[in-house]
Parts: sequence; C-alpha cells; structure tokens
Amino acid sequence: MSLTRRTFLGASAAAVASAPALTAQANDKIVVGVMGTGGRGTHLARSFAAQPNVEVAYVCDVDPSRVAAAQKVVAEGGRSSPRVVADFRRILDDRAVDLFVCAAPNHWHAVSAILACQAGKHVYVEKPCSHNAAEGEMLVAAARRADRKVQMGNQRRSMPKVIEGIQALRDGIIGRVYFAQSWYTNNRPSIGTGMATSPPAGLDYALWQGPAPAKPFRSNYLHYNWHWFWNWGNGELGNNGVHTIDLCRWGLGVDYPTAVTSAGGRYRFKDDQETPDTQVVSYDFADGKTITWEGFSCNQIPASPKPNALFQGERGSLALFDNGYTVYDERGRETKKETGGTTGDALHFANLLAGIRGGTRLNSEIEEGHKTTLLCHLGNIAHRTGKRLVCDPARKGAITNDEAAQRMWAREYAPEWTPRV
Ligand SMILES: NC(=O)c1ccc[n+]([C@@H]2O[C@H](COP(=O)([O-])OP(=O)(O)OC[C@H]3O[C@@H](n4cnc5c(N)ncnc54)[C@H](O)[C@@H]3O)[C@@H](O)[C@H]2O)c1
Repeated sequence: MSLTRRTFLGASAAAVASAPALTAQANDKIVVGVMGTGGRGTHLARSFAAQPNVEVAYVCDVDPSRVAAAQKVVAEGGRSSPRVVADFRRILDDRAVDLFVCAAPNHWHAVSAILACQAGKHVYVEKPCSHNAAEGEMLVAAARRADRKVQMGNQRRSMPKVIEGIQALRDGIIGRVYFAQSWYTNNRPSIGTGMATSPPAGLDYALWQGPAPAKPFRSNYLHYNWHWFWNWGNGELGNNGVHTIDLCRWGLGVDYPTAVTSAGGRYRFKDDQETPDTQVVSYDFADGKTITWEGFSCNQIPASPKPNALFQGERGSLALFDNGYTVYDERGRETKKETGGTTGDALHFANLLAGIRGGTRLNSEIEEGHKTTLLCHLGNIAHRTGKRLVCDPARKGAITNDEAAQRMWAREYAPEWTPRV
C-alpha cells in the first residue's frame, strides 16, 4: 500500500493507538507475511498470492525444511519470490507489510496476532483464534485498540450456500430453531509412545514453543501431533470442532452458553495422546437452545454424506453442507434442496482483503471467531475437570460454579511471551 498511508502505522502499540483509522483504497496492493508453513500455511501463502493485487513478501517457519515449498508456490507463475525468515517479528518490523497471516500451531495464534495488531498489521489468524479463553479476549481487545481488521480462518462463513442456508433459518424456513447438532469423524492412527530425543536438525524448538511453558522435546510432538497435547493444542474439539460448532452457533443466533458438559476420553488407543479421541459436548443457551458436537477422531462412521450441521425447529429440520442445504418437514420429508455452491476458502480471503481495502464487513470478525473458539475451550475445561460448567452469559461466558475450572480460563506463559494489551 502507499507509503503515505503506511507512515501512520508505527510499530508500537502507542503509535497505533494514536493513529487515525485509515481506509485503504480499493486498488491498493496488499503486502502479506505468512507465519507457519506446514500444510495449512503453504496453502494460505499460495492462496493469498493468487488474489488480485496481493504480494506475499514473507514466508516464515522455525523449521527450515518446511519453508521452501511455501516459497516455491508463492513464486509460481512468475510472481516474485518471498523472503524467508525464521522469526515472525521480522515480518512485524517491516512497515511495508499490511497483513499478517498466522498458521503456526494453536499456542501461537493469539500471542502472535496480538503482537501483529500492535505493530499495525491486519491479521488472518487460523482457527482456533486462541489457545485459551483469556488470550482470545485479549486478541479482541488488541484488534479494537489498534483498529485493525482481524479475521479467523473458519472459511465456511464465506461460502455462499452456507450463508444462504443460515439466512433461510433466520427467515423461518423451519420455524423457531432450538437445536443444532454437529460432528467430526476421522480414522487417525495412534501417535505411539514418544522418546526423549533432540529436535530435528535446524528446527528452532525454543521458538516453536515460544509462549508455551517449555517442555523437553519428544519424538512424537511434531509436526501436527501437538494438537493432542494440552500444552500446545486443543484436541479435536479445538481443531475440527471449531468449524462446525461455529455453524451451529451462527444458525441458532447465540453467543455465550449457560451450561457446558463433556463426555468421552482417549478410548481407541493407549498412547501419549492427552486429548480425547471420542468426545460428546453439549452447550445450553438461554431461551431454550442447545448445541451438541460429537468428535470421533478414530472412527470413520459409514460414509453417508453427513451434513456439517443439522438444525431442528418447530416445523422441521435443515441439514447444512459446504455447497448447499436440504430442508425437511416435521415428518422428515424433503421439501427443498440447494446444491452447487462454491466451496473452498478463496472467498474468505477475498472478504478480508475487501475489508482492509474498502471497509466491507468481515464475515468472521475476530469477536465472532472468539465466541466460537470459547465454546471449544469451555468444552475442554468441562472434559478436563469432569464438571458440568455453569456459565454466565452476561459475563462473557465466565464459569460461576467451579473455581478450578474458571482458573483454566487462562494459562501460564513463558515470561518473555506473556501477551499484554
Ligand atoms: N481453516 C482450516 O481449514 C485449517 C486447516 C488446517 C489447519 N488449520 C490450522 O492451521 C494451523 C496449522 O496447521 P498445520 O496442519 O499446518 O500444522 P503443522 O504443525 O503441520 O504446521 C505448523 C507449522 O508452523 C511452524 N511453526 C511453529 N512455530 C513457529 C514460529 N514461531 N514461527 C514460524 N513457524 C512456526 C511449524 O514449524 C510448522 O511448520 C493450525 O492451528 C490448524 O488449526 C486450519
């Protein structure tokens, strides 16, 4: 974007807080830096680079063996090759960068996104937008204070037929809607029993851990398997659960729950995995509405096309898919079927870029992303404490019946990375 606009964007929180709110012009180039180049970050680097008038100027990973593929896909088709950095703060230091994209593991999401806002960057942060509830609240506050656009990576919010299906619910197609059911199934293998060993050559494990309290390296932590250890991940609920619980919350039009339960465990394999592979969570809301999510990480349920979310109302049901939705009457007879909608996530990226350039409303503005992510954190707190949580919607979902559970709202940090807003 133009230098004149960028001269306002100081690197310190104070400078940003005092900067006037600026709107980019519709044709401004947007310069992007991507943190974390695993499967997801590489896809994001390629996809943002393919958007009109966007330059991916940086790709960043603490594992040098992973970043070359991301650099290559960005440079495809004659585009200029991005700089490779290992420390994401080099992206934040560069005033030319407008948008910071975070696809590092979950324990980095809110911490790096808060620093990015404070450095004047807009942010695309992968789901879940936080590793715990407190830092999610801090991220919302940081976005507001710095007046930055922050979008979470729950791309179904931008899929046209999903939007249409939710609108149909709003318009009363099945009458008053009071129940939404969602699930995830996979056939993940065991992660086995890890051994104390050195991290892979070249990988900066200290910077990989960053804000999480340091743990000695073991052979089955990474890549990807960090999802199943509470120090870095949020289990399947905070992994794939976020996507479909978000649809349920959106469709029911609810924010903070009144009660949360969780049943399940690590049932399929006996190994190092700390998070459940089999889990059923439920969320009650005021005015008589409930969401459930069933997670089967190690059981591929027979493959009938299962909707992402199934809504029940006074006059029937609505099954929501990525590319459409099906409506049934009270007796289960199909009354309407919509298919053929665009899927994928390009429209979600385009929505954020339009928001940065012209003030278009974000489809998954960070406060909405936080509310859904919070449901996942609450489900995991219910699981880990074995308690039915009573929550106060008037206090942003705070847990009122169990002090030990409420203490899990936040975490300990490696001191140098403690987030501050
Ligand atoms: N929206 C979606 O549909 C979707 C799909 C897949 C993954 N995701 C999310 O994207 C994130 C990444 O997923 P993944 O499957 O690529 O995980 P992954 O573990 O395979 O990759 C993460 C990468 O981040 C790197 N990393 C860790 N710390 C870093 C740091 N300080 N600086 C730079 N890089 C760092 C790791 O070395 C690794 O290469 C997860 O949070 C996941 O929830 C979202």
